Amino acid sequence: MANATQQAGGKRLGGKTAIVTGASAGIGRATALALAGEGAAVVLNARRRERLDEVAAVIAAQGGTALVVPGDAGRAEEIDALLAQALAWADGGNKYDIVVVNAGRGLAGSVLTSDEAQWEALYRTNVLGAAHLMRQAGRYLMQRRSGDIVALGSVVGRQISPVSAVYGSTK
Ligand SMILES: NC(=O)c1ccc[n+]([C@@H]2O[C@H](COP(=O)([O-])OP(=O)(O)OC[C@H]3O[C@@H](n4cnc5c(N)ncnc54)[C@H](OP(=O)(O)O)[C@@H]3O)[C@@H](O)[C@H]2O)c1
Repeated sequence: MANATQQAGGKRLGGKTAIVTGASAGIGRATALALAGEGAAVVLNARRRERLDEVAAVIAAQGGTALVVPGDAGRAEEIDALLAQALAWADGGNKYDIVVVNAGRGLAGSVLTSDEAQWEALYRTNVLGAAHLMRQAGRYLMQRRSGDIVALGSVVGRQISPVSAVYGSTK
């Protein structure tokens, strides 16, 4: 059976394995499909397994390779499990090369008006989970001396908006 490198033949990211968090919808889904289109084997993470299965099916139908690893990107132990599964994935070459730190959620309002009950969950996913993923993947890629980490920021992280100030502070 052909592995990911052989299947990808000639494409820009042939032989590379990419991990995408928040791959079940939006920017993460589109990024996963784009990476697969360029020949990367893609590890898909988000909480909704059925949505990830659908993305994996699209990738497979287009001749690509994907591994579904459902989990919460705001929980350190689930991030560690995601990275371990990526490293153990034979079709991905028992390695990973690219990590897209995309999983995130929004919150409307300012410090005065946003729902404070959401603050902890917002920070857990957008800041703590993202930082843990970057730290763990960064250590591995530094050891290998190659690879890329791409983290999704936002314009509201640079120019604080009165209508999404708390969310902006996480980006
Ligand atoms: N859309 C914009 O205009 C915009 C602008 C600037 C930056 N961004 C950033 O881009 C990223 C993606 O945004 P989007 O607009 O594509 O959002 P989206 O359509 O709401 O999708 C968010 C994705 O993140 C996943 N996710 C959320 N919480 C998660 C968690 N705890 N663990 C694992 N996965 C989680 C969701 O999947 P599940 O629900 O299945 O877990 C979903 O796949 C975010 O980091 C966002 O801050 C977006």
